[in-house]
Amino acid sequence: MKAPICEFVKKYAQGGASRFHMPGHKGKPFLGFEDFDITEIEGADSLYHARDIINESEENATALFGSQKTFFSTEGSSHVIRAMMYLAKSYKGGDYVLATRNAHQSFISASVLLDFDIKWVNPKSGGYLCGKTDGAEIEKALTRVDKMPFAVFVTSPDYLGNISDIKSINEVCKRYDIPLIVDNAHGAYLKFLEGENHPIDQGAWLSSDSAHKTLPVLTGGAYMHISKNAPKYFSENAKSALALFGSSSPSYLTLCSLDNANLYLNDGFDKRLSELSKKVDALKSRLTENGYTFIGDEKIKITVDTKKYGYYGEEIYKILYKNGIVCEFYDRDYIVLMVSCQNSENDLLSLESVLLSIPKKSAISDTPPTILPCERKFSPREIAFLPKEEIDIENALGRVCADLNVACPPCVSVISCGEVYNESTVEAAKYYGITKCNVIKNN
Ligand SMILES: Cc1ncc(COP(=O)(O)O)c(C=O)c1O
Repeated sequence: MKAPICEFVKKYAQGGASRFHMPGHKGKPFLGFEDFDITEIEGADSLYHARDIINESEENATALFGSQKTFFSTEGSSHVIRAMMYLAKSYKGGDYVLATRNAHQSFISASVLLDFDIKWVNPKSGGYLCGKTDGAEIEKALTRVDKMPFAVFVTSPDYLGNISDIKSINEVCKRYDIPLIVDNAHGAYLKFLEGENHPIDQGAWLSSDSAHKTLPVLTGGAYMHISKNAPKYFSENAKSALALFGSSSPSYLTLCSLDNANLYLNDGFDKRLSELSKKVDALKSRLTENGYTFIGDEKIKITVDTKKYGYYGEEIYKILYKNGIVCEFYDRDYIVLMVSCQNSENDLLSLESVLLSIPKKSAISDTPPTILPCERKFSPREIAFLPKEEIDIENALGRVCADLNVACPPCVSVISCGEVYNESTVEAAKYYGITKCNVIKNN
């Protein structure tokens, strides 16, 4: 396998051409990587009209993922999610999507941009913001609606590492003839674990994978996978869907990185990943023997339920930080550590030793408020064009949420745009440290 984008860009950089084209740094080394940062010059192909080196690299990714076709994005799963929803809406027609409640904010922005409504399914287990669902839950929701959605949208894995039962959800979607779309932003590596773990191998028609989250790819590098089960329509229209939402200046640094990842994935990645997942398993077992509790299903994500160990998430986060260990995420309940094959043996050893140096205390019993469904007044699209105001969360009861009020990460909101704050959502927002919110202006 070759990395044709990297080859072209390296050769161009070494050639020392006088660059009378974008970007304005002209390849001069301000930070050291500018010489590889080019634009769509002769020979560099063009992301949304790929015929040459980018097409070849996407074909390599297609072979690696076993998809009908895999497409690159340099703007993350956020970009891919908008494009996938456009494809599903234009394929099927219809005005709403059935989605699990743990959806990322980019899904809500797709609903605003594409003018579709959302019917939520609360994940069966794990909580409101994170959790997992299965075919039975999706079927239950489908039997309650009077017309069918144009897609079912599931987020799996989610930020805390919960994995939904995509196979059983796919069985239901097949029976009802509804495209299944999976936000697999956290799961690009799943393809390379033993067994059929990737959503497109489990029946999803489309999936978005943030290559940059779990593979050695620069920020923004992402894949749109179209499975072999999906109608050709999706592959044939994917580029124009991505172009509709993407910048006309995709990053060649990120394209090189996606291109180079093909070589990395093709060169024994499955073996390295299997060894890593055994090491993470063993680490979790040793820490469990010492009183730690973990949640989630992901093999290379470590989500600690810190309150069971007697600490709030932030407290353990800070101890780790002081010791030179930086987590992906923390809130009151959990810390999330994302491990990849690029973490050293030493990284894992020091994580273990710092966690073991923290004395266990009695568990903290305070639990996040149970969020009760909110009355819905407007669709996300309707709300986007109404006047808003910012108020204290204390005063939000009965007011219509106008904006997602989310921390990033995990970019999942306790209340969706257009819903009315009830007591439970006000309490939940306060629990997660939200002090202000945007609501629809009163007259
Ligand atoms: C579940 C989920 N979906 C989608 C995204 C968006 O991914 P990206 O940052 O690649 O745009 C994120 C980002 O954190 C996420 O956690």
